[in-house]
Amino acid sequence: MPPVIGHRGACGHAPENTLASIRRAAALGAGWVEFDARLTRDCEVVLLHDETLERTTDGCGLVADKDWAELSTLDAGAWFGAAFRGARIPSLHQAIAVLAELGLGANVEIKAAPGRDSETGRITAARLRAEWPAALPVPLISSFSPAALTAARDAAPDIPRALLVSAIPGDWQRQLIDLGCNALHCDHEHLTRGRARPLLDAGFALRCYTVNRAARAATLYGWGVEALISDYPERLAR
Ligand code: G3P
Ligand code: MG
Repeated sequence: MPPVIGHRGACGHAPENTLASIRRAAALGAGWVEFDARLTRDCEVVLLHDETLERTTDGCGLVADKDWAELSTLDAGAWFGAAFRGARIPSLHQAIAVLAELGLGANVEIKAAPGRDSETGRITAARLRAEWPAALPVPLISSFSPAALTAARDAAPDIPRALLVSAIPGDWQRQLIDLGCNALHCDHEHLTRGRARPLLDAGFALRCYTVNRAARAATLYGWGVEALISDYPERLAR
């Protein structure tokens, strides 16, 4: 695991969760990217953060109500800047092809629509297991959803998983053990050295999002945080 992971590709520089954003992360020197994966109505896995289309595409409504054939025609770049007009919502399949071309590792964050946690975890993990190129580092699955992580474990036990949280919960150890996760991903804003220590002492990896300042990164690395997810991966390069 490299110390810096591009967030949604390199979403400070290019429209999040697009192939252009993944390519930008690689161009900026990131060895890994994080992106968000969710299901369409017809069970395609696509890269999109929000449950709805309005913020980052020219479509509207719920992703979970649309089929891939329709989503694949939307513009997912113009909102960010005219230079990105024509960028599309990628499928996981398309993203994996670009990762393979660039030699990039990936943290696939599973985002589930209400009631679809297990289904999303199962299908995403199964696709990763079936399609992941042997030449790339083993991917990392993460999610705020324990049900999605459990289903991912059952579908692809060999793919490592991390539990995503905002702040480290009181019962972090029980949750990580129950879910078979070897790492926790938390919001750095809520992290203190004192909260990080017990988790690191217990042998779990700790990674943080979303860190965009080099000084904060140095502090977090100093505490033992293994990797930082950044909108501007080049700012944290060590
Ligand atoms: O995976 C880290 C981070 O992406 C989690 O929050 O909302 O940016 O997906 P969010
Ligand atoms: Mg994410």
